[in-house]
Formats: sequence, C-alpha cells, structure tokens
Amino acid sequence: ARLFLCIFLSDTDGQIHRMGGMNYMNTMPEIKKDSQGIARLYVDNEPFLILGGELHNSSTSDLQYMEEQVWPNLRDLNINTVLLPVCWETVEPYENEYDFSLTEELIKQAKREQVHLVLLWFGLWKNGESFYAPEWVKKERRRFFRARYRDSSESETISPLCGEAVQRDRMAFCKLMEYLQENDRQHTVLMAQVENEIGFLKSDRDYSPAANEAFRQEIPIQLQTLYQKRGNWENAFGADAAEYFMAWHYARAVDEIAGRGKEIYKLPMYTNAWLSQHPNRAGIYPSGGPVAKLIPLWQAAAPSLDMLSPDIYVLDFKSECIAYTHHGSPLFIPETGRNKGAASKVFYAVGAHHTIGFAPFGIEDIQAADKKNMDPGQLTELNIMAEAFDDRNTAPYLRESYRLLRGMKEVLFTIPSEGMVGYMQSNPYEAGCILEFERYDIQLDYLCGETGSAGMLILEEDGFYLAGGNTRFTVIPKKGNHGQVEILRYEEGEFEKGIWKRKRILNGDERYDLAVYDSPRTVHMKLYSHSSKVFDSHE
Ligand code: DGJ
Repeated sequence: ARLFLCIFLSDTDGQIHRMGGMNYMNTMPEIKKDSQGIARLYVDNEPFLILGGELHNSSTSDLQYMEEQVWPNLRDLNINTVLLPVCWETVEPYENEYDFSLTEELIKQAKREQVHLVLLWFGLWKNGESFYAPEWVKKERRRFFRARYRDSSESETISPLCGEAVQRDRMAFCKLMEYLQENDRQHTVLMAQVENEIGFLKSDRDYSPAANEAFRQEIPIQLQTLYQKRGNWENAFGADAAEYFMAWHYARAVDEIAGRGKEIYKLPMYTNAWLSQHPNRAGIYPSGGPVAKLIPLWQAAAPSLDMLSPDIYVLDFKSECIAYTHHGSPLFIPETGRNKGAASKVFYAVGAHHTIGFAPFGIEDIQAADKKNMDPGQLTELNIMAEAFDDRNTAPYLRESYRLLRGMKEVLFTIPSEGMVGYMQSNPYEAGCILEFERYDIQLDYLCGETGSAGMLILEEDGFYLAGGNTRFTVIPKKGNHGQVEILRYEEGEFEKGIWKRKRILNGDERYDLAVYDSPRTVHMKLYSHSSKVFDSHE
C-alpha cells in the first residue's frame, strides 16, 4: 500500500466557498505542467482526469428533455464531467439580446448531479456549416457573407473572412464568459470548446471575392517563419495551398474569439478536429480544420488555445493519439465512439498519453431504453462508421473502467512517467506486443473478447499493476537474458483513493489465468527472477 500526500499552494482567484461543512478555495481550472513536465488539467488546484461523455447536439435545447432523457441515463456511469453544447442561436436570439437562462439551468442541473461541465460553443461553425448562428445572422446574407464554392455559388457556411461575423460571434462568446465569471463561482464549468469540427466542406477553399483577394496575398509572416517559405499561398504550399489558407483564416478567427473570451474569463480552451481520413481530401473532411498535419499552423495562428483535440471515430485510435501529442499539445479526446471498445481505449489514452480526458459521444444513449441511433445516411455524411455508435452493452464495461480509473487517479498523477505505460490493439489483425521494462518484459496477447478491443495501462510499482481489458500477459526475461522470471504473488483488487486494496490472492488454478477479459479489472503481480543455478535478490 502506498500513501500519497499532496500539498498544493493555491494561486487563488479569491473565492472561498463552504461545502460539506468545510471551507475550500476555488481556483480557476487551468492546464499547466506538473513537476514532471506533464500537462494536466487542474481543478481546484488538483490534477483532474475527465472521465466524461458528450451529449447529442440537441439535448440541451430542452431542459425537460435533459431531466427525462439525459440525466437519468448518465447516473451510475461514474462520469465526472459532461460535455454539452451552448448554442449561439439560443444565447443571442435577437441582436444584442443575450439570454443565459438555459446555461444557468444546465449548470444547476450539473451541480445537482455532481458533475462538471465542458461547454461546447456552437457558434459560427459546427461541422463545417453555420447552422447554429442565430436567425438574424443567417438571414443577413450580405452582412454575414457565405463562403463560396469554386463555381462561386454560395454555401451555408459563413466565411471565416467575414470580419463582422467573427466579431459578432466573439461578442456573444465573451458574454458567455462574462456570465460564467459572474455566476459559476464554484467552477462547475471546467473548459470551453471554441466552435465544433471547424472547416469548410465540399470545397478545398472559400472562393468568395474576399477570399480570392486574400489568396493572392503573401503568406503571413508567422507562416514564413514556421515553414521557411515565402510568396503567395500557391507559391508557398503548392497543392495544399487552399487547405493551409483556410486553416490560417479559421485559426485566426478562433484565436480572436477564444483570446478575447479568455481576457474576460481564463478558462482552458480548445478546438476539436474532424480528422482527415479516407478519402483524404480537404473538403471531404472540413478544409482548414486542425487535422494532424495542420497542428503546427494552428498552434502558430491560435496561441490562445490550450490544445487541439481529436474526435476519434477512425479505426486507428492509437495513431491519432500519437499525432495530437506530437507537437507538445496535451491530449484531450472530446468525442469518440460509444461502442464497447471505449471501455479499453480509455486505459490506453491515460497510460500512454496522460490524457486530460476521454468522452464517448452520445453518452446519454448508452443506458437508454429507447435508443436514438443515428440514421446511416447521416453517418455517411459525417464519415463515421456505424459501429462507432453500436452501444449495445457498453454501459457495464465503461462504468467499470471509469470506476477503476477514479480509484487510481492519485497514483496516475504521482507515479514517475517512465513507470506508466499504456497499450491497445490498433486493429483486429494485431496479435499482441511486448512491453519492455527495466528488469523484465511483459508479453501481451490480445484477446478477442466481446468488447473486441484490448487496452490496458500498466504501472511499474512493486512489480506491476495492470488495469484494463481483453489481454493475456506473460512476464518474460529481457532479450539476451537466459534466466527465469517467476511470479511471487498475483492478486486481484483495485485502488481506492490511490491505495491498493487487494481482493483474492490468485493462486492454484487461478494463478494460471494471467489475463483480464471483457470486464475491465485491475491485478497486481509481484515477480522475481533467477538463473537455473543462483537466485538473485532483486525483490
Ligand atoms: C462529430 C460532431 O462533432 C458531433 O457534434 C456530432 O455531430 C458527431 N460527429 C456525430 O453525431
């Protein structure tokens, strides 16, 4: 058993609240590096792991619906944070008339349910279009001009070059930040997502007159420095020019919105990405969104954002996690499939990437009797495979993953990073892997369980703690070492507040079963090694 003692000095914003008979200091949520240099989300000055879920797009527009169809289906899932939309159309239904009654009630409901919120700002852009702009914005097509296709016909997407539209979105977002600053004193809201899966669809770029004019200009100085290129967009970026051009303009717009919002209320902020995927052409995925190759550009153009976050529905979950941590960005997964595989993937994201959080999409469906599954046509439009939303029987597995991770969080935040590893099966053809540790290696064989995906996190501490699902493990000597590795003791159990509580000691018949199956579990193995002649005294 380990004892974790954490003392934090608070750089408080001065709020003191009473809760459960105790005074505590409320400081702003923030993303900062810990003493190991790992970027973490801090809530009330303590590291926090978002074990979350994102709601369907329309759920928050009706509070009654939230009470009847959402909250009851979220209870008992061990979720600590809900990601939900706040839409410009309801916040500013008439120009300069702001209404935060929905936001206010949603925060009240979340407090009652004892969960935090991440607010998704559905402003000018949601999945490449401008459906969430208020009616008065939609109707004024000249003032808020649309991006155009190559044949110069108008799209339904307001152009990122429309300065006035960006200004109006920014004003509404700032009002939202002002509202939170004044009213969310206990920091129910942890972060804000600025826009949603931004980018232009069905065209590589905006061909409006304003965009055509800007496209002929010299690329901005920041990009000259970043890419060591000069000239206009085409000279600098060749066949990718249209996409880089859109990315620059979207990112600058987002930076304007997020940056000004942060001046009012300094919440952590991010923008999420519709990932590039087959068929890999900008315009098929939203052109200019923060896809992996554009992370450096987005980071240069939108420094107000704390991170760029992938919505991972593609099969190769692992590569996307790697891509979105490559450029020093902390990993946050605001959307992913809600199939059973999610129960294993969360262990990988935590173990391999110290993710700030994980959130399957449409989370209110997984325990719902009456599922509102999306129609296949809609999914094709969004380029999401139908399996991602096959949530039959996800609930028991996800609930258990989240419960185990909740108990482990103190360990996850304090263990030296080289002592924590995460892995997962990337595709059904991958048979397993070997994880290398200092004294032994662990051979992992992926099991094809009901959840269909193997994933674990492993902590090297007093032997090994393994948490996750669908894997058989065998401890093997290091390459070139011809000694034997034996199990000294094998236990099942779980962490509670960071302290290991063993359940059964698995010996005899159970000792042969070095595996976890569909339902996520935590086990502990203590090992010793010896050559055939001499015992060594590692343990
Ligand atoms: C990704 C979007 O970001 C979500 O808002 C939602 O539309 C899902 N796709 C699919 O339903």
